[in-house]
Amino acid sequence: MSRIERLISSMTLAEKLGQLTMTASSYAVTGPVIAGDSTDAIKAGTIGNLLNMVGAEHVREMQRLAVKESRLGIPLLIGFDVVHGHRILFPVPLAEAALFDPETWALTAREAAKEASAEGLAMTFAPMLDVARDPRWGRSVEGPGEDPWLAARIAEAKVRGFQGPRLAAADALAACAKHYCAYGAVTAGRDYASVDISERTLREVHMPAFAAAVASGVAAVMPAFTDLAGIPMTANKALLRGWLRDRWGFKGVIISDYNAIAELMRHGIAADLAEAAAHALNAGVDIDMMADAYRRGLPIALQRKLVTMAAIDESVRRVLTLKEQLGLFDDPYLRGRTPESAAAFSGRRKLARAVAGRAIVMLKNDGETLPLSGSLRRLAVVGPLADAPGEMGGPWWGAAGRVGHVSVTAGLREMLGESHIQHAAGVAIDDEDVSGIDAALDVCASADAILLCLGEAADMSGEAASRAHLGLPGKQRQFAQAVFERARDLRKPVIVILFSGRPLVVPWLMDQADAVLAAWFLGSEAGNAIADVVVGRLSPSGRTPVTWARATGQIPIFFGERSSGRPADPKDHYTSKYLDAPNEPQFPFGHGLTYGRFTLFNLRVTPVNAEDIDTLQIRVDVRNEGARAAEETVFLFTRDKVASVARPLLELKGFAKISLPPGESGTVALSLRAGELRFLGLDLEPVFEPGEVEILVGPCADRSKLLSATVQLSWSRPC
Ligand code: NOJ
Repeated sequence: MSRIERLISSMTLAEKLGQLTMTASSYAVTGPVIAGDSTDAIKAGTIGNLLNMVGAEHVREMQRLAVKESRLGIPLLIGFDVVHGHRILFPVPLAEAALFDPETWALTAREAAKEASAEGLAMTFAPMLDVARDPRWGRSVEGPGEDPWLAARIAEAKVRGFQGPRLAAADALAACAKHYCAYGAVTAGRDYASVDISERTLREVHMPAFAAAVASGVAAVMPAFTDLAGIPMTANKALLRGWLRDRWGFKGVIISDYNAIAELMRHGIAADLAEAAAHALNAGVDIDMMADAYRRGLPIALQRKLVTMAAIDESVRRVLTLKEQLGLFDDPYLRGRTPESAAAFSGRRKLARAVAGRAIVMLKNDGETLPLSGSLRRLAVVGPLADAPGEMGGPWWGAAGRVGHVSVTAGLREMLGESHIQHAAGVAIDDEDVSGIDAALDVCASADAILLCLGEAADMSGEAASRAHLGLPGKQRQFAQAVFERARDLRKPVIVILFSGRPLVVPWLMDQADAVLAAWFLGSEAGNAIADVVVGRLSPSGRTPVTWARATGQIPIFFGERSSGRPADPKDHYTSKYLDAPNEPQFPFGHGLTYGRFTLFNLRVTPVNAEDIDTLQIRVDVRNEGARAAEETVFLFTRDKVASVARPLLELKGFAKISLPPGESGTVALSLRAGELRFLGLDLEPVFEPGEVEILVGPCADRSKLLSATVQLSWSRPC
């Protein structure tokens, strides 16, 4: 008999339910506080998993209690939201998506795993893979942006990065893909609200990233808090057992979200905790996070015959198997034994700075305002986010806390010297006080250029942080208008550094600023990275992973929309458009300027007659016509014009990057298997349809900027 079977056969019901329970320590509160001190329960073997615990000592002591003082000595599985770093923060996930660089996505996850595992942690509740097309939803900041193909690539990279080549290694974390599924489609962008979308949208948009995570060997999956057309995901047997386990072959652990099992009562599908627990277990949820529903509800559910002991054993087996795969039985203290060296930390800081610089998206740069020329010696760095180190980490700062991050003023002072930087906040992020505006305008008046640092507070995005108004909070608009006016009088350039966990809808600002950098929340090295870009030590290369709306009423807005039967036509009243706003976004998906100026030409696609088994080779020439070296990102889209089911206007299928010195040309090569042009047919099963497909290549999802070629698809064998 294997170790696991031996254990299961010797466990009491209470011990089994302990293995299916995860409770929080008091370090970080990420939901309602339910359980108290878990020390006695760990010794009794009735709590088998912990979350929200940091610090190697603390983790080790808890582990010791489980291993040495519980009857069976089963080690704890200890997890934490290691989302974009642990102690050293990388950019928030949405910002990192802007890199369009799978190697870096994997690398930052690897580094985060090293840092967290060195403190004894064995699991992260990441990556978050919720495709989000509604920036009102605050949690868009945690995810991969609007596109399913992109989300799938991020899923693969992050799982690879967190888990490394071997789950049992001292520096590997079990990844947990969350939140399965379609959490990003909450009604009206309101967190935790109901989701009701078509089966097709579910499968085409929201499921692919999770399928990719499973195919990459993700250790765990977390169902979303939300319901899907009336069936809460925590009890969604069809999606958990049916799709995840049976169709995709997921053998790992399904772990509920925080208190989500008890919330099945509020959803209105369970009358009491026993029913709630039975729903979740029967749907395939193995670990109950924080509801204490399994320990309190499953014994009653067993008596009522709502669940079987076999189902409980099955879940226990999966949890113990994960612990075994993580090497916890062989050496429960492996993680956390060796503290990381100072060199590891300083190397990671350098990486954080480089990644943060590359996550910046230069939205606008009129007249080549940026990079600032050396003759602009005195800078006014104003606005409530100019000297706000605590905000730089974004809404979830993990174990890093809110101190030790580099603000914009600190980064620029370090780079240019104290005397070159004058600072005034002008206004706070979100209050009504305008008494500081005049003093800030005086600071602007004595400078050569103005850096206006505006945006949301870090906690205005993230969990439970939906917003109905997507402009600047507080009196920031009033302040910004005053700065723009003064700068116009004085003929000084205004560069806006915009901090946010979502694309803010600020068309008036985009019109008036000379340059705008989307700085999202860039993490520990934010200010240094911004300084690198502002002075031209780094050419910006980030591209927005979400379509940027110019009016809140355009939301949801995304490039993968389908065509209307009445596409917008300004000359025809009865077409698909707004009376009071254009259809076009402020910036398309993929938009982002560099310090170069790139032209794409000479698109070649072979073969032009392709069979389903062929791979298309796509090449395009790129020339840097600007005066500075820079990196260009080239996107590959397809468009299936006539199919049995109407296809989106553009579908993302690839991207590539090329770095070119001024005046130089190069070639970008992409490949695409014709089989990837399959889509879900009338019966929602994948189908490959012969016919014409457009191949489009260019700098963003604006059709007018794309080069296109057509290929003819056919079957390699007659059907
Ligand atoms: C609730 C969040 O929805 C989830 O993403 C997170 O992992 C858990 N809390 C644990 O903190």
